[in-house]
Amino acid sequence: MSQMLYNDQIMERDNVIDIEDRGYQFGDGIYEVIGVYDGEPLMMDEHMERLERSARELRLTLPASTSELKSNLEKLVEANGLEEGIIYMQVSRGIASREHGFPASQTPAVTVAYTREEEREPDVEDQGATAVLAEDIRWLRCDIKTLNLLPNVMAKQKAVENNAVEAILHRGGTVTEASASNVFMVTGGELYTHPADNYILNGITRRKIIQLCDELNINVNEQTYTVDDLLNADEVFVSATKMDIIPILKIDDQTIGNGKPGKITKQILQQFRSLYEVGARNKA
Ligand code: PDD
Repeated sequence: MSQMLYNDQIMERDNVIDIEDRGYQFGDGIYEVIGVYDGEPLMMDEHMERLERSARELRLTLPASTSELKSNLEKLVEANGLEEGIIYMQVSRGIASREHGFPASQTPAVTVAYTREEEREPDVEDQGATAVLAEDIRWLRCDIKTLNLLPNVMAKQKAVENNAVEAILHRGGTVTEASASNVFMVTGGELYTHPADNYILNGITRRKIIQLCDELNINVNEQTYTVDDLLNADEVFVSATKMDIIPILKIDDQTIGNGKPGKITKQILQQFRSLYEVGARNKA
C-alpha cells in the first residue's frame, strides 16, 4: 500500500475523507497535478504558484505556506520511492455542516496528496493521435484549477468513445483548450494558442512551451482562433503535465496538415524532453 499525505501527515492510503468535506460536497477546492521524472518533480515552484493563485481567486486560505507544501510533497515522493509518474494534490475549504456559504470559521485542508506511477508514453508523443471537437460548456473561470470537472469529464468521455486522445473545446466557434490539456496550432510557421484569460487554464506545460519557443525563435501568438482555422492548420498539438506534447493528426474526420507529426511540433517536443533528460543525466 502506498502512502498519502493528509495535511502534513504521511499515512497509509486507506484513510477516508469526511463526508462533509466541502471538496466532496461542493467541489469547493482546488488541485494540482505535478509530473515526476527520474524521481524529481518538474516545475514544482510553478505548480505551487498556480495553486496559490487558485486559492486566492476562491478566497481560500492555503493551510500551509507553499514552501511547506512543496517540502511535504517531496517527502511523499520519497516515501513512495516514485521515479516516474505524477503527484496529485487537493486542497478543500475544509469540513463543515453542509451550507452553501463559507463556514464561519474556515479550516482549509490538504485533504489528500498521493503519487501514482505512470510510465511515459514516448510512442504517442512521436506518432501522434486523434482528437474530437466538443462544445465548451464550462463556467467562465476556467483559469482556476478547481475540483469541478464535470464538463471536462463529459468531453473526455466523448474522446474515449471515439478512440481519441482529447476533446478539443470551442466556445461559439472559438477554440479554447481541451478537456485536460491546452491546444496549439501552427500556421505559416507560427504558433497560435488561446490567450491566458478566464476561458482557459494557463497550463504549466503551456507556459514552458511559450518560453522554449522564444529560445527556438518560433513566434507565438497568444490570440483566439476559430475551429475553421484549427482544422486548416499545418500542425496541431495538445500539452499537459505528464502527457507533455501530443501531435494531433486528425480532428473528427479532418486530417491535419499531411497527417503526420509536424516539423515545428517535433522541434518543440525535443526541446521539452531535454528539460528532464538533462536532469536525468545530471543525476546519473
Ligand atoms: N490537467 N487545461 C485543462 C482543462 C487541464 O485540466 C490541464 C491539466 C491543462 C494543462 O495544464 P498543465 O500543463 O499545468 O498540466 C490545461 C491535469 C493534468 C489533470 O487535470 O489531470
